[in-house]
Amino acid sequence: DTLKDIVKKVEANIELNKEEIKYLLEVENEEYDALIRMADIIRKECIGDRIEIRAAIEFSNYCRKNCNYCGVRRDNKIKRYRMTEEEIIDEVEKLYKVGIKTVILQSGEDPYYTTDRMLSIIKEIKQKFRMGITLSIGEREEEEYRLFSDAGVNNYLLKIETASRRLFELIHPDDDYDIRVKHTRLIKEAGMRAASGGMIGLPTQTIDEIAEDIIFQRDFGIHMIGFGPFLPAKGTPYENCKPGDLKLSLKVVAVTRIVCQHVFLPATTAIATLHPDGQTLALKAGANTIMLISTPPSLRDNYQIYSNKNMVDLSFAIKSTRDAKRKLPKYLNYDYLKELGYEIEDEL
Ligand code: 5AD
Ligand code: SF4
Repeated sequence: DTLKDIVKKVEANIELNKEEIKYLLEVENEEYDALIRMADIIRKECIGDRIEIRAAIEFSNYCRKNCNYCGVRRDNKIKRYRMTEEEIIDEVEKLYKVGIKTVILQSGEDPYYTTDRMLSIIKEIKQKFRMGITLSIGEREEEEYRLFSDAGVNNYLLKIETASRRLFELIHPDDDYDIRVKHTRLIKEAGMRAASGGMIGLPTQTIDEIAEDIIFQRDFGIHMIGFGPFLPAKGTPYENCKPGDLKLSLKVVAVTRIVCQHVFLPATTAIATLHPDGQTLALKAGANTIMLISTPPSLRDNYQIYSNKNMVDLSFAIKSTRDAKRKLPKYLNYDYLKELGYEIEDEL
């Protein structure tokens, strides 16, 4: 039958075509269980039994764009904040002390952070802590990608959100599909690893389009692929739309692991927000990365790209890791975590 044929192709390292990917996205019951198991086995073979922890600092929620789905879009009436260079460095230092090796600097598209301001922040982090840096600050100029790369930025996160031109243009009033694709290429050409991904269950999105999303990640050699459910955000044009489906989101994670194999797949904050077990289920369906939200608590509430965002802090990460029966990265400093009041079980 079809699933057995697909498994044989995966085992023989033959690329799956779109019809086969669609078939996997539509499996139910025993075939669903088999899909999740297969993804878990491939995750184990490619990555092993470890979980990568990435900490994100959302340093500004100003944004010049008006993406229809996003809670920090320009027209949304929310309290805006910007962190100073000093505040950002202080947060990074805390992460460094815990033993975290990569920080994600994330913001809306905020021109206040000019090339020079960003470079100054990047250089200071590199000099003081030698940490890996992922930038997630939206579309920038070609020249800036090169400058960021030369200053030591390792990864640049710019999601395609959807690889369907039709849907991309429907949800992005300010963006052009071809430009987003071009920028995905420019990021790699500048010498950084490209991180991408998208949303599952966007209004009007089809299974065919989701299959295209996964193929896009494979074809562009994306290194970190964040797929999470669409969640309606208060005050946005999509606030009354229904959220993406948990099972479909898990299938997308699983199929992405099977199709893209050796990549970083976060169990996204969005899936943790959709369902209390979402993150653990994703970690059992091929995901291998957790994002810790490390924005100072006083600012966090203003960075609601969708409503009621589930804050993934260290204790939550430890619980998810334990449920998934996998090791936290060795580099996390247990003594320091205990000092911070986290309970750590020896079995981890
Ligand atoms: N639902 C789910 N994910 C969202 N994002 C933004 N708004 C939403 C939403 N309403 C995700 C997008 C974006 C990242 C910052 O958060 O993928 O790239
Ligand atoms: Fe701005 Fe990004 Fe939200 Fe779009 S998705 S409105 S670019 S923060």
